[in-house]
Amino acid sequence: MMITANITQESGASLPLDGEVDTRHGPILYLEDVSVSFDGFRALNHLSLYIDDGELRCLIGPNGAGKTTLMDVITGKTRPDTGEVFFGQTIDLLKMDEPAIAQAGICRKFQKPSVFDALTVFENLELALKTDKRTWPTLFSKLNGEQCERIQEVMLLIGLAGLKNQLAGILSHGQKQWLEIGMLLMQEPKVMLVDEPIAGMTHQEVERTAELLLSLQGRHSIVVVEHDMEFVRSIARKVTVLHEGSVLTEGSMDEVQNDPRVIQVYLGG
Ligand SMILES: Nc1ncnc2c1ncn2[C@@H]1O[C@H](COP(=O)(O)OP(=O)(O)OP(=O)(O)O)[C@@H](O)[C@H]1O
Ligand SMILES: [Mg+2]
Repeated sequence: MMITANITQESGASLPLDGEVDTRHGPILYLEDVSVSFDGFRALNHLSLYIDDGELRCLIGPNGAGKTTLMDVITGKTRPDTGEVFFGQTIDLLKMDEPAIAQAGICRKFQKPSVFDALTVFENLELALKTDKRTWPTLFSKLNGEQCERIQEVMLLIGLAGLKNQLAGILSHGQKQWLEIGMLLMQEPKVMLVDEPIAGMTHQEVERTAELLLSLQGRHSIVVVEHDMEFVRSIARKVTVLHEGSVLTEGSMDEVQNDPRVIQVYLGG
């Protein structure tokens, strides 16, 4: 039996339908000349950034460089004072609120895992299934074959298939982080923003997280913010260095690490 109740959509913005992100002639995320000020302080300063469809991008930079603010702008939490932010060619993110942006396929992994401790791994993923959110609740309806397959697929991807019936509350810190990534994956996001994913992880968990993020590229576009340079090196494709709210330089890990301006920013006071 399917129990339905209407939950009104909070967002007044028009929602792009799935698959409508047009990346044929350009990047999946396009930020141009974006500035954000907090009480006169420029957290982002004429920042331009382009993320390609399916790429894994690392974003580094010293404390206060504006990395988290950049994610806040992309997800609609913070409105820039000036600039353009587009999802694909045609979707203007500045015209959408946070729920609409998430619905359109841009999701964010925060540092602290927020899985449901009293539910199993499987149930957490089931709750996160991409369903019509106006239909409530998913747990009372029977999963169809496709949904079961998707949960199985995600459990394998995040390395928790063997712990399907384990309560999330007794997972290790790293496993909880992977479960949360899995919950985001259930929504089949086009873009995933991941802020400092390995904080508090064991060495083994860090390695496994690197493998996981690498396995997601191609199917998803991923932007990873991380301070741990060894970790960044292990997953790095193109690396963007942020400094004082702007892009300082971009390139391979070797290119940016040997760039005198980057060395100056990290070592110079
Ligand atoms: N809501 C806010 N109000 C005032 N200032 C803010 C706010 N959010 C960020 N800032 C300031 O903007 C600057 C950029 O902050 P942000 O958090 O984006 O940096 P970050 O690169 O993520 O740093 P970290 O590596 O420490 O996480 C900082 O100087 C910060 O103090
Ligand atoms: Mg930050």
